[in-house]
Amino acid sequence: MSEIRPPKPNLLRDSANRIKLGVFATNGGAAFTHHPDRFDGDWETQVRIAKHADELGIEGFISASRWKPFGGDQHYSGDLMETYTWAAAIAASTQRIAVMSTVHMTIIHPVIAAKMATTVDIVSNGRAGMNLVCGWYPAEVAMFDEEIKPHADRYALADEWVEIFDRLYAETKSFDYNGEYYKLRGAINQPRPVQNRPLFMNAGGSPRGTEFAAKNADIAFILAQSTDPLKIKAQVDQYRHLAREKYGKEIQIGISTYVVQRDTRQAAEAYVHDYVVTQGDDAAVAEFIEINVANAKTMPDGVIQQMSFALKAGYGGFPLVGTAEDIANSIKALSDAGIDTILLTWTDYEGGLRAFGKDVLPRLEQMGLREPIAATA
Ligand SMILES: Cc1cc2nc3c(=O)[nH]c(=O)nc-3n(C[C@H](O)[C@H](O)[C@H](O)COP(=O)(O)O)c2cc1C
Repeated sequence: MSEIRPPKPNLLRDSANRIKLGVFATNGGAAFTHHPDRFDGDWETQVRIAKHADELGIEGFISASRWKPFGGDQHYSGDLMETYTWAAAIAASTQRIAVMSTVHMTIIHPVIAAKMATTVDIVSNGRAGMNLVCGWYPAEVAMFDEEIKPHADRYALADEWVEIFDRLYAETKSFDYNGEYYKLRGAINQPRPVQNRPLFMNAGGSPRGTEFAAKNADIAFILAQSTDPLKIKAQVDQYRHLAREKYGKEIQIGISTYVVQRDTRQAAEAYVHDYVVTQGDDAAVAEFIEINVANAKTMPDGVIQQMSFALKAGYGGFPLVGTAEDIANSIKALSDAGIDTILLTWTDYEGGLRAFGKDVLPRLEQMGLREPIAATA
């Protein structure tokens, strides 16, 4: 007879910490740089990082998803591991941390996604979640014998996708579905998942993407338009207002970052200059921007340069650069601006997480932003 395991909390949703933390994109690395420290997604190292993050009480382990590289065949940007199989393996290696697959809704059919998410949910005993993305890279979609849909159609498909996914999770009887994008006969999802719904995150930046996130996501990620906390607060407030007024719900707001922690601020800044400016992968990032931002050519130079810098530094993240104290203070400022969840990336994830756990986490606890792990276990 199988043993009944009480479901675990999904910490990215349920943790009472004022600031929740996630490690982002170890499944292939986040920085666009030729610096030798860039993490290549080595599996044994990823498992060690996941176990360490779990022991530190970090709430989430979040993948990124890419099906085809920028910068030509064999470029490292295409090396991101597939995210449901990855999530199941990370879940089996950890105890507490929430594990997030990133899913291209325009590529992965919702019936397949529901069964894969259910599998991760069962392996993790209720710690599964998904970062829902529509995709924006035409060459990636072309691999699936399709042309990329116009932006509005991608999000219209995404609304149907979530509706089907939710029904597959909730309903125990086969059902038909007649939508514009999906026509299903007798759809059902077995075995039964652990959670009523996996945690949904989304990082739509356009007005339509923001609507989708406000309606469907537990956590919406903003792309910081500035490092000024007041401007970030305005972005956060706008999101919360939309979710509250239009959809009657509370939403968490997250932000992705790159972390460079050194004994002095000068040393941290010098390292950033080295891996971003001196050894940055300018060619791949130029291609990324060209594809991603349809109107990149019409954007002012300063904006493109800023975007390019942040992409090279760590997938467009917000800078957490300096001493442990500087970093803790920046996290406090983000919290004061209303941010609930911070995703962390490094060039060297393993060494970076070790230093962060040793010197930044205790400061966050002293600041009242997080409880020590023993208190939350
Ligand atoms: C933190 C974060 C993570 C993201 N992860 C991915 C990803 O793994 N794969 C992907 O194709 N897009 C990813 N995106 C892109 C978003 O899903 C979204 O398409 C983008 O922000 C543009 O917004 P829009 O879809 O509303 O135009 C990510 C964006 C952010 C800010």
